[in-house]
Amino acid sequence: MNHPKIVVTGRIPDAGLELLRSIDGSDVWAWLGDDVVPIDVRNAQLADADAAVTLLTDRVDAEFLDAAPQLRVVANVAVGYNNIDVVACHERGIIVTNTPDVLTDATADLAMGLVLMSTRRLGEGERLIRSGTGWQWGMFMMLGTGLQGRTLGIVGMGGIGRALAQRAKAFGMEIVYHNRSAADPATEARLGARLVDLDELLATSDVVSLNCPYSDATHHLIDAAALRTMRSTAHLVNTARGPIVDESALVAALQGGQIAGAALDVFENEPTVHPGLLDLDNVVLVPHLGSATVETRTAMATTAAANVVAVLAGQAPINPVDS
Ligand code: DGY
Repeated sequence: MNHPKIVVTGRIPDAGLELLRSIDGSDVWAWLGDDVVPIDVRNAQLADADAAVTLLTDRVDAEFLDAAPQLRVVANVAVGYNNIDVVACHERGIIVTNTPDVLTDATADLAMGLVLMSTRRLGEGERLIRSGTGWQWGMFMMLGTGLQGRTLGIVGMGGIGRALAQRAKAFGMEIVYHNRSAADPATEARLGARLVDLDELLATSDVVSLNCPYSDATHHLIDAAALRTMRSTAHLVNTARGPIVDESALVAALQGGQIAGAALDVFENEPTVHPGLLDLDNVVLVPHLGSATVETRTAMATTAAANVVAVLAGQAPINPVDS
């Protein structure tokens, strides 16, 4: 293809841009602002685009696709692709790709960090010191719970779920998981993990971690009824997607002592955070940092760019997304 036009809808690490620019004759347009690209600016650039590199803050919907009549590939710089209408892309013959694997460790690290933050009340402790309130060491001050011998329930045993299980095992936790299909026996044995149904997982876990993709099937998977099933001493950790949790129900469950705490990296109406969560001490809130390491974001950008390179060269995409 002569002079393929590639639109990058937001800032990505240079390594990704360089790979795109290395495509023979490519014309790469990238939005370099820190804010989200204005839709009219984006749409004007999409008019003659052959490829789009998108971020999870883009909605790739009919409006986006109507603006891009020549588009051949949408390469999302994320493993999650709930921001993309994949069916609509496929109906128009547009390939969709994502960035699996490269962010597995970073996201599992963050999930483990949130398990510790919630169970050991680290956010609360940090806020106490920053508030300037006087304090001194106390035998019964801010007691949390240890992880050794406790049960971690992992909802979604893909790469991130398995990487979290490996970390939690090193902390002495027992692992149960809920997934559409069982992990292979060798993986189960290595992680000491046992497949259970969701109700059993919720009822028996000391920490529940959400690591499943977001879809119609997982929308509000953790609702008021699910939260009622959890132990009053349990913690909920979400590093997957916000709308898997009914945030209003979570606020009510935390206020009513139905569960002990929550740690959230993702939010139902991101970037808006439910005001009820902001008022609660037993909640850890971080701004969607799962993949936020220099190494990982660089690998995500180069993975997305490599998918564009492949498709524009007439080869199969490396990480195609099925509808
Ligand atoms: C993803 O890749 O889906 C992550 O949420 C980005 O951090």
